[in-house]
Amino acid sequence: MLKDKKILLGITGSVAAYKSIDLIKLFKNKGAVVEVIMTASAARFISPMSISVASGSRIHTDMFEDHLAHINLPLASDLFVVAPATANIISKHASGIADDLLSSSLLAYDRKALFAPAMNWRMYQNPVWQKNLDILASLGHCFVGPERGSLACGEEGIGRMARVEHIVEAAEACMSDQDLSGQRLLVTAGPTREYIDPVRYITNRSSGKMGFALARAARRRGASVTLIKGPCSIEPPYGVELVDVDTAAQMHKAVMDRLPALTMLIMSAAVADFSPSTRYDKKIEKSELTRLDLVRTDDIVADAGSSAERPFIVGFSAETGSSVERAVKKLHDKNMDMIVFNDVSRSDIGFDCDLNEVVIIDRNGSLPLPLMSKDETAEAILDRAVELKKLSGKE
Ligand code: C5P
Repeated sequence: MLKDKKILLGITGSVAAYKSIDLIKLFKNKGAVVEVIMTASAARFISPMSISVASGSRIHTDMFEDHLAHINLPLASDLFVVAPATANIISKHASGIADDLLSSSLLAYDRKALFAPAMNWRMYQNPVWQKNLDILASLGHCFVGPERGSLACGEEGIGRMARVEHIVEAAEACMSDQDLSGQRLLVTAGPTREYIDPVRYITNRSSGKMGFALARAARRRGASVTLIKGPCSIEPPYGVELVDVDTAAQMHKAVMDRLPALTMLIMSAAVADFSPSTRYDKKIEKSELTRLDLVRTDDIVADAGSSAERPFIVGFSAETGSSVERAVKKLHDKNMDMIVFNDVSRSDIGFDCDLNEVVIIDRNGSLPLPLMSKDETAEAILDRAVELKKLSGKE
């Protein structure tokens, strides 16, 4: 999404300015070209030369370096990002002040910009400043953060600049056409654990990567997203409601409680199919456990599929082999709208990998997708779901 995009990054005078180097690197890793404007105060926190080394181009600081810089720089950019954005730049822009290169360029930029505010919590909570923030938000500008935590002044509170990874995710969201705006999505991801005793459990293999990619892409496209996740060790996406669960029964309850409010359910979790019939409260002796009796867990997607409050449902079918027959059967048996088949016996795709090669199956036929990243696969799954949802009149 950011490949070959031109980011105009405005850096203002906050102690968080040192994070700009990492932010520029992240943008560049995604294939973006970064042009930087620094205010005079920003240059007191971090040297323009360090920023220039990171961005690979000359830094713009002077309003009069070129009398048209404040027009041409925003005109040539795909997205204007101000990070860190001080209370000052946000208030100045809300009032239309143009007294240096950055504020003038912002005024000459006629699309939505992204701001990553950073300031002391007292400044953040000041109603005058909050009013200015509201002005920019009502004009459609995007914001990321600030976060709560320890601040440069030594106090705890809200005001830390958002993490650079989250700023990049917010930049992608700000540039997307928000085609899932108004959709309320629930994505499940990762494995569940079915306990034998407090130490031992039965589980399924799953890193959660595919579900997390779906939640991230849906949120980027404007959906309000809840991610119900079993135990996963990967970084969760920014801006989604996170619900942690452990067992299939907990995941079942978490999904069913939210079902009436949803427009789409994506069940990508590798829910355990069996649970020990007895769960011991204390760790049992090896010698005491000679056999394990299992019971079937409740099938979450099947229960959602037969519910009167059924949203549009996407399921997954991880199989060891290339035949899609079992996936087609599950689509019908569990009353889903769409099922995503993948062959987990291949070592180059599926479990723990960043790549996937899936077949999307619906009631009209199947759509094989090429080998691509899980992020690209997530986009393609959402594209197809949006298309089918429109066709089915469930919009
Ligand atoms: O039958 P199978 O487990 O292969 O079906 C896979 C699909 O069913 C996935 O979407 C998975 O998340 C869902 N599932 C479920 N509840 C279970 C088991 C699987 O919702 N107990």
